[in-house]
Amino acid sequence: MTLVRLKVRGLRNIQALNLTPSPGLSVVFGENASGKSSLLEAIHLLSSGKSFRTHQLTQVVQRGASEMQLSADVLSESSGTATLGMEYETEGGRMRMKAAGRTVQKLSEMAPYLPAVTIHQESHRVFTQGPEFRRSFLNWGVFHVEPRFLPAWQRYRRALRQRNILLQRSLPKPEVWDRELVESGVSIDTYRRGYLQRFIPIFNELLPVLRIDGAICLEYRPGWGSDKDFSEQLSKGLEGDRRLGYTRIGPHRADIDFTVHGSLVRERLSRGQMKVLVYALYLAQARTLAEITGRTALIMMDDLAAELDGQHIDQLLGKISVLGFQSIITTSDPAFRRHVVDIPHKMFHVEHGVFIEVI
Ligand SMILES: Nc1ncnc2c1ncn2[C@@H]1O[C@H](COP(=O)(O)OP(=O)(O)OP(=O)(O)O)[C@@H](O)[C@H]1O
Ligand SMILES: [Mg+2]
Repeated sequence: MTLVRLKVRGLRNIQALNLTPSPGLSVVFGENASGKSSLLEAIHLLSSGKSFRTHQLTQVVQRGASEMQLSADVLSESSGTATLGMEYETEGGRMRMKAAGRTVQKLSEMAPYLPAVTIHQESHRVFTQGPEFRRSFLNWGVFHVEPRFLPAWQRYRRALRQRNILLQRSLPKPEVWDRELVESGVSIDTYRRGYLQRFIPIFNELLPVLRIDGAICLEYRPGWGSDKDFSEQLSKGLEGDRRLGYTRIGPHRADIDFTVHGSLVRERLSRGQMKVLVYALYLAQARTLAEITGRTALIMMDDLAAELDGQHIDQLLGKISVLGFQSIITTSDPAFRRHVVDIPHKMFHVEHGVFIEVI
């Protein structure tokens, strides 16, 4: 997939933007507060419906404006060019979305058009914070490679919600939902395991490229005793679930332990090492997608020079270029060009939300 054109209106300090990124590497440089992260935020929104900076979309809309409009032309490997559109009105919080000429109701219908991974200042929370960050990393990967994942996940969420309502209100027979929960839950688990089987070797192969020494192990935790039967565990736990008023086990509690030499990554590695590892993680995710589906993801890296040292930057950019992924990098370092002299690229300068291509 290639992002061919991006149009933005009324997002943070970007009043009106019409940008044609490089099909390879684009470097966006500008001073602090010029609008670099906002550009990536716009693309991330089109890709996932979410901002990586806030849960409140009203924050993203330009102060004083009543709506923001985003659109992107994307060229996909299989189905040619498609236009994606998203409009968000602050009043009533209304979101309208269109993909390939069709109105779409759900973000999950937009998401396959523009798979994009964004690595930013907070991305290392995948190691340092709660399991929801690791689940969302895992779910992104599985969603984009396995079309059966989303329906299974939706079925599971529905059954879980119903079961929890019964448990919470001490109503009879919450276990009527167990069959549905187990069927969909086991499918989710199977898809996640299948994904990780493909992902792990790709991730391991990237570690030396980014000069990460020491084996990083990923241990998947399905959300119930790893070697146990979900159905049996669910029945066994029913009394406890009743007491607490919710379902304590299942794929909604899955996690991945990242360890190095037997210790958790967050307890062992330096902040800088974790940051490098994050790049390996997301690059591996993009590669896994490409290997399984033949589709490439856009890779966005915010403030790269503030995150990695020069050597790591060179190694990373070299690898991305060899892999042929489209990428957009932001930096406040005006001398960043030295890292890309050997890589075909486009360079943009941004000031007060206005982006100009520099030759
Ligand atoms: N809703 C909004 N409306 C208008 N401007 C906003 C809004 N939200 C944030 N801004 C401003 O937009 C500008 C661009 O912010 P952005 O985070 O994109 O800058 P940046 O170039 O990434 O800076 P840095 O290098 O410090 O990360 C900032 O001045 C910020 O205060
Ligand atoms: Mg920024």
